[in-house]
Amino acid sequence: MAAILVLNGPNLNLLGTREPEVYGSLTLDEVETMVRERAGALGVSVAFVQTNHEGELVDAVQASVGTYDAIVFNPGAFTHYSYALRDAVASVPVPVIEVHLSNIAAREEFRATSVIAPACAGQVSGFGPDSYLLGLEAAARLAGGSAR
Ligand code: DQA
Repeated sequence: MAAILVLNGPNLNLLGTREPEVYGSLTLDEVETMVRERAGALGVSVAFVQTNHEGELVDAVQASVGTYDAIVFNPGAFTHYSYALRDAVASVPVPVIEVHLSNIAAREEFRATSVIAPACAGQVSGFGPDSYLLGLEAAARLAGGSAR
């Protein structure tokens, strides 16, 4: 069974109360429950990590090798400036799908650029919690070797 890591960066632990008009009203626990249910339907196993710390995200990406077949990654604000995370993603053979709740292309100018996306297999942005489900679907396909 393919194993997928869902990795969340800074401030995503505050989902539900954090700018709900931008990020919605579901908590991270509730989003993870949705993802867990979809993972069951897709026949993949899923694990979750959230941290506010850049180095811990680097560690999680590095540690994914040999343990996970793909990563669904919301790097939060690190998306826009963390070359360390971009290099971590580029340094591992594990495919990474970048996901965002909001449409980063349609917000402030600084959010329109992801420095991490070029190292990723792809990006899903703007569909609220469904971005995670779409990212999971892509991850499952990549992990199964059938990215159509
Ligand atoms: C986000 C978008 C980022 O710009 C922001 O810093 C976040 C959340 C999203 O999921 O829409 O923390 O990654």
